Amino acid sequence: MESGKQLTGTLALAVFTAALGSLQYGYSIGVINAPQKIIERHYGRSLGVWSDRAADLSENGTEESDNNDAGKHPAVVMYWSLSVAIFSIGGMISSFLVGYVGDLRGRVKGMLMINVLAIAAGLLMGLCRMWKPHIMVIAGRAVMGFYCGISSGLVPMYIGEIAPKAYRGALGTIHQLGCVIGILVSQIVGLDFVLGNDDKWHLLLGLSGAPAILQSLLLLMCPESPRYLYILLGKDQEARTSLLRLKGAYDPTEDLEEMRREKEEADKEQRLSIISLIVSSVYRRQLFVALMMHLSQQFSGINAIFYYSTDIFSRAGVSQPVYATIGVGVINTVFTLVSVALVDKAGRRSLCMAGLGGMCCCAIAMTVGLKLQNDFSWMSYVSMAAIFLFVSFFEIGPGPIPWFIVAELFSQGPRPAAIALAGCCNWTSNFIIGMTFPYIQAWMESYVFILFAVLLLGFTVFTYLRVPETKGKTFEEIAAIFQKERKVHKDSIELQHLRSSSDA
Ligand code: GLC
Repeated sequence: MESGKQLTGTLALAVFTAALGSLQYGYSIGVINAPQKIIERHYGRSLGVWSDRAADLSENGTEESDNNDAGKHPAVVMYWSLSVAIFSIGGMISSFLVGYVGDLRGRVKGMLMINVLAIAAGLLMGLCRMWKPHIMVIAGRAVMGFYCGISSGLVPMYIGEIAPKAYRGALGTIHQLGCVIGILVSQIVGLDFVLGNDDKWHLLLGLSGAPAILQSLLLLMCPESPRYLYILLGKDQEARTSLLRLKGAYDPTEDLEEMRREKEEADKEQRLSIISLIVSSVYRRQLFVALMMHLSQQFSGINAIFYYSTDIFSRAGVSQPVYATIGVGVINTVFTLVSVALVDKAGRRSLCMAGLGGMCCCAIAMTVGLKLQNDFSWMSYVSMAAIFLFVSFFEIGPGPIPWFIVAELFSQGPRPAAIALAGCCNWTSNFIIGMTFPYIQAWMESYVFILFAVLLLGFTVFTYLRVPETKGKTFEEIAAIFQKERKVHKDSIELQHLRSSSDA
């Protein structure tokens, strides 16, 4: 069998184990939606602004004044918003540490170490009823965000480094698959007859740390990234053993040769810190592409759907919005699977372009649907269909690809710094959308998705003009694309210079 095409049990185990980190990321994104009202009441009780009598009256439907809605009390609103937002703030800060943690003792030990954070976060939230729930949940979400900021960089880095070239795209997409399954699981266990109720909501939140326990056990059986061993530590023999474990019985000479060339390059280019990557003119083009791809993922408006879908569905006239939200979770998962199947055949660039372009059309359809639904009742079906298609287009390209393409765009020297910067850009824009969407929606009303349509059109054009195809290429070949571009750019500047001086 061709050396780059072997899929072994150990490789599958390693990818599955890493993706348990992505599962926790997705679960934490989705879990906070369904039980909002219940948690607000518990906050209200603990803050002394919501009584059990008010709860009974409201639950029996006897009184529904604002006084009985814990979620409208300013202190509760503040603590609730903080519980949601602190997750992204934790992620924004810790995403800078991805390179450091990954290089300290390796990718596998890195993932193992940070699991302490995930388990601590799960305990804080799971035990929150023993003390002040609002403080415990906020602390737990902050720690969980901190964990996810590191793991959402470390997981794609590890998978990208162990994947055979022919399957790098499909396996890279597994991070997103873990994430969307996490979102879906959180939507299902968040239903009121499962854990999203007054008695069990703390368990619902606490469960977010559970995959870390399983992951810690499985990580003990996962081989370290051969690229880390060979390129960073220069451990030739250990890298060979790791390759054999990952790929089965085969001749690793070709892979070792590829890594040797990468190491040669890496030794020449020295390890880059985040600051030196930002100021370096050598990597400017790659960095621009990487950051724009993460911006396009978040400013596509996807999380406006994930955070506020229930509200958007009720505006579109859906009577059971919670189930429609679960429908979104299912579609989301199905189309990520489609991407897993397509990404190494159709390529990253074409899938991103098709996805962004399709999302742009759906955003326009959503606007038309929302605008005209009062005149024609069937228009609410148009909005519904547009939301489902919007999510489907997202998952075939703009969702999964930015997460793993950064590792492909950069060679070993600048890779950790680039992943850290791209991660921080992702978390920051995610935070901005999460915080501002309700205000933009209040301001633009049914035209809100036009804003995303305009942005999406811009991102589609950018992808067409600037994003190179990385499918089936070695890291060296990808670096060569940018080197060539840089040279063409430099030559044209020199030519302009020459022309202007000869004119003068
Ligand atoms: C991506 C995004 C994340 C989003 C998710 C939806 O992983 O990074 O913000 O919620 O996709 O599937």
